[in-house]
Amino acid sequence: MKKIDKAKTFLSEQLHLFKCPVCQRSFDALDGYQLSCTHNHSFDLSKKGTLHFLLKPSKSEYSRPMLLSRQRIAKMGFWQPMLDTLYSLIENINGVALDVGCGEGAHSAYLIEKGLAGPVIAFDISKEGVNLGAATYEDIFFLVADLAQSPFATEQFDTILNILSPSNYEEFNRLLKPGGQVIKVIPGKDYLKELRAFQPKENQSYSNKEVKDKFMTHYPKASEHAVRYSVDLNDEEVTDFLNMTPLGWHIEASEKEIVSLHHITVDMVILVGNKPQ
Ligand SMILES: C[S@@+](CC[C@H](N)C(=O)[O-])C[C@H]1O[C@@H](n2cnc3c(N)ncnc32)[C@H](O)[C@@H]1O
Ligand SMILES: [Zn+2]
Repeated sequence: MKKIDKAKTFLSEQLHLFKCPVCQRSFDALDGYQLSCTHNHSFDLSKKGTLHFLLKPSKSEYSRPMLLSRQRIAKMGFWQPMLDTLYSLIENINGVALDVGCGEGAHSAYLIEKGLAGPVIAFDISKEGVNLGAATYEDIFFLVADLAQSPFATEQFDTILNILSPSNYEEFNRLLKPGGQVIKVIPGKDYLKELRAFQPKENQSYSNKEVKDKFMTHYPKASEHAVRYSVDLNDEEVTDFLNMTPLGWHIEASEKEIVSLHHITVDMVILVGNKPQ
């Protein structure tokens, strides 16, 4: 089946998960490949099967080559130990999941491979990320949208995945069903420390205290799970690794030989909160 038709089938079954980001009303019609709200705001499915909900254009710093590098790094397993732990923390494997700020979607794709079985919707403000994700992965419904003007209906989601991406807890609680889970992944203090060593002095250390405190204010009963491991990279992977994050962009080619970048520390914290029942 063509991607656009697969997406159309998904949308017609899951129309209740969405709302119009312009007038906040529900979508009650899918006419051909066009979604319209009761106020006649309409959004067209693209050939790739994605929807574009941005009300104003957004310029992303993430280019296609950078996203391709990030995708290759994901594929070689860079985040797998973290994702294995994250997967074990998901309460409702068959629930509706929303991947917020999904980038090119590799994390959701991996979780589906592991057994995440309900509908998975992934969105990002970056069109490049969403396009690459939609071209690469099956079984994820991708859309371009801004968390600040989200096109999702109230209390329809069981799980929100918020992996290294921005948060809006008021919005997360609006979207989650009562008792639903928000799973947020943030860097630990030693995350990519070998790369941080190349940064100006003031950027070499990182504290997640503020982000963690904010999460705990919204979800006082939240649990915290530290994940720490290291990954060995070959020369090609070091190049992709440097391309995939803004921290790597200014590092000169000659410095790429530096041995320390072939052995990278992944230090992350997974925060899990539930919306009250
Ligand atoms: C560091 S990347 C993480 C991407 C992916 N979750 C991952 O871990 O590979 C942060 C992502 O958040 C997205 N983002 C930033 N602001 C956003 C917003 N207001 N709405 C949706 N996505 C946003 C960026 O475009 C980017 O793809
Ligand atoms: Zn509308």
